[in-house]
Amino acid sequence: MSNWLKPLLLATVLVAFSAQAQQPIVIKFPHVVSEKSPKGQAALVFKKRAEEILKDRVRVEVYPNSQLMGDDESLEALALGDIQMIAISLSKFDRLTKKFQLFDLPFLFKDMAAVDRFQASPAGKALLTEMEPKGYLGLAYWHNGLKQMTANKPLIKPEDAAGLKFRIQESDVLETQFRTLKANPQKMALGEVYQALMNGVIDAQENTWSNIYRLKFYEAQKHISETNHGVIDYLLTVNARWWKGLPADIRAGLEQAVREATAQNDANSEKSNLADRELVVKSGKTTIAKLTPEQLAAWQKAMQPVWVRYEKEIGPDLIKAAQSANK
Ligand code: LMR
Repeated sequence: MSNWLKPLLLATVLVAFSAQAQQPIVIKFPHVVSEKSPKGQAALVFKKRAEEILKDRVRVEVYPNSQLMGDDESLEALALGDIQMIAISLSKFDRLTKKFQLFDLPFLFKDMAAVDRFQASPAGKALLTEMEPKGYLGLAYWHNGLKQMTANKPLIKPEDAAGLKFRIQESDVLETQFRTLKANPQKMALGEVYQALMNGVIDAQENTWSNIYRLKFYEAQKHISETNHGVIDYLLTVNARWWKGLPADIRAGLEQAVREATAQNDANSEKSNLADRELVVKSGKTTIAKLTPEQLAAWQKAMQPVWVRYEKEIGPDLIKAAQSANK
């Protein structure tokens, strides 16, 4: 190589390196709900704060409404490094750890404050790293809220659910819950539920007020029973190897954005569910049954076999730790 070519080559290599160094780290964050739901809002707060704190060193791309992929696919895509962040329902981790089945035990938590106390307890915090050996690291819990049941007939007694095709999340506990009620549970991605309700492929589903309103399920169901029988919360999750391989200052900036998004989500999720409940009431499109304590006790009793079936797999100590958060 002639002498005058060497500096030119060096300069080209340096330019290429610095261009690469300036490329922002892209964080793809798909989810399946509306931007106006608690999770949709929290994802946007995370994006805003991460980009403010880290300037042009990171770019967060949030894809709401199953636009990029469903939750099932997102678990695989995170492992493969095609996306960098997810916040899927705790119910959907049951293929990775039996311990997360805890959150689907019917009537486990008396309200969202109890859910919050459990998640903040040592036993709750320990679950964040439960799936790390499988490559999934939990950064934080994000609240949504308690679940209600919707159908085209009133669901007042547990026997009313018999024979109904109930859409459920990907969770074996939820499958057992509806089999126990002699209903016909069907695991289905959230993005397909509205259409399936509209064309009668399913008759019923369970979800939070926020999802019932924002995804228009109330337009497709004549009745809602306010049962508060279970919880939908999320685990904000990253690929453990990717996260630990980030430059320390970037990881610290992202941790700060996660803390702020989590605080805002948890301060707003209950208010947001209540507001969405009011919008469902105002729509006049569906009838809401508020069950009496006696009626709720009958549902609780009918679902008791679910606890018996899963107690050993989940671990009695973990169940006790969760129950103690009700006090
Ligand atoms: C569902 O599939 O019903 C929920 O997990 C959706 C969600 O993310 O709130």
